[in-house]
Amino acid sequence: MKLPLLPACLLGGSAAFASSLQKPLSNGLSADTRPVHIPSAATGGSPGYRDALLSLHKQLIEISSVSGNENAVGTFLVEYLTERNFHAQLEFIPPSSNSSSSTSSVDADDAKPRFNVLAWPGAKRNPDPKLLVSSHIDTVPPFIPYSSSDPEPNADTVISGRGSVDAKAAVAAQVIAVLELLEAQKVKGKDVMLLFVVGEEVDGDGMRYFSATLDELEPPPRFEAAIFGEPTEGKLACGHKGLVGCEVYARGHAGHSGYPWLGKSATEVLMRGLVKVLDTDLGSSERFGNTTVNIGRIEGGVAANVIPEKAHADIVLRVAIGPQDGSESGGQIVKERLWETLKSVDDEAFEMNCHNIYGAVDCDCEVSGFENITVNYGTDVPNLKGNHTRYLYGPGSILVAHGPDEAIKVKELEQAVEDYKKLVLHVLGN
Ligand SMILES: *[C@@H]1O[C@H](CO)[C@@H](O)[C@H](O)[C@H]1NC(C)=O
Ligand SMILES: *[C@@H]1O[C@H](CO)[C@@H](O)[C@H](O)[C@H]1NC(C)=O
Ligand SMILES: *[C@@H]1O[C@H](CO)[C@@H](O)[C@H](O)[C@H]1NC(C)=O
Ligand SMILES: *[C@@H]1O[C@H](CO)[C@@H](O)[C@H](O)[C@H]1NC(C)=O
Repeated sequence: MKLPLLPACLLGGSAAFASSLQKPLSNGLSADTRPVHIPSAATGGSPGYRDALLSLHKQLIEISSVSGNENAVGTFLVEYLTERNFHAQLEFIPPSSNSSSSTSSVDADDAKPRFNVLAWPGAKRNPDPKLLVSSHIDTVPPFIPYSSSDPEPNADTVISGRGSVDAKAAVAAQVIAVLELLEAQKVKGKDVMLLFVVGEEVDGDGMRYFSATLDELEPPPRFEAAIFGEPTEGKLACGHKGLVGCEVYARGHAGHSGYPWLGKSATEVLMRGLVKVLDTDLGSSERFGNTTVNIGRIEGGVAANVIPEKAHADIVLRVAIGPQDGSESGGQIVKERLWETLKSVDDEAFEMNCHNIYGAVDCDCEVSGFENITVNYGTDVPNLKGNHTRYLYGPGSILVAHGPDEAIKVKELEQAVEDYKKLVLHVLGN
């Protein structure tokens, strides 16, 4: 979901705050009050895979994988999957592309090569796997160590640490769900492919690279459907907002502050422009609510007694209208409205530079047995090009995902295994 020129916090991070304000499409039950339907839990026991699930989740969290530094966690995942009869292909992200490390806190010189992990059951890849199951293995900074509220885990045990929700919960639950289905012979190995990408939290360079080089894989896989793992509170997302990130520049004339009429204050123009933007309807929809504006950073002038010649702001707009792509996308429409609004305040002072423009992203949320939700954060969903049905689902809440208290309950992880199984079977028609 992200763009090279903006820091990660503007992209993945700012999402959290609006989410609680999103008008829910579902019946409003929270994840905590929803009954958990795990077959073996009904008899009072724990699912047979609990230990395997918690162990995988723990190992993933214990390996720090802040964007730009995903080598170790990728290596672990390759070993884990190959020990379980998967064939794994490492897809190295060329450092020459605008890699995450250039905008993350990681020093590129220290970072080992970064790769996506592409894996499929058995040795030979089916040219037409019907389903891609995917999530990301990078996290936002800083690393927070693993901890668990109980030495002997039960359904209500709380597991915390960086990535415990976003998105190592999804990675662990996806892997266990697919392993369970294969072992029970409910799906055929040839029908499913796993993809765990790097760089989602910065600019999506992992998924972008996978998407751009898909046709170079021999043979190129074609998917009927893709399941993306991001925290959706255990609900199926009907989609997420689009995005426009812009730098807005205002230019005035410097002068003595005692004679404001002899100059033109760039900060004043910028402020008036941005307030007008905040007060303008930039586009809304039933599904996604209003397009929202975050004025993330603002800077201008040189001293209190000098009329500022220059000012600028970094802003991100969360786009509530579609379509997702193209020259007429919801993102382009919102960008155009932003520009018109600024120009209506001053038709010569402004310049603007926008990146990573896309409209609201639709996913399929009509699967029986699932509640639905819409989310305001960006994902890798729009970064995978192609004609496939898209599902966005994952355990845990985005409201804790990038914060110091990131945590998830064991029962949420287990519910996710059951739900991923259900989704996989839904797609594969069994
Ligand atoms: C989402 O769930 C609500 C409540 O069950 C339902 O009325 C609505 O039709 C669902 N939305 C979609 C797009 O399926
Ligand atoms: C890489 O980033 C630079 C600015 O940092 C930009 O000008 C260039 O277009 C980007 N290249 C690609 C391939 O995205
Ligand atoms: C959306 O914006 C309109 C004004 O354009 C406002 O009246 C409405 O309350 C906003 N809705 C939400 C959910 O913030
Ligand atoms: C996408 O796939 C669906 C179903 O396979 C098909 O009906 C539709 O025409 C395709 N759309 C494009 C743009 O290829």
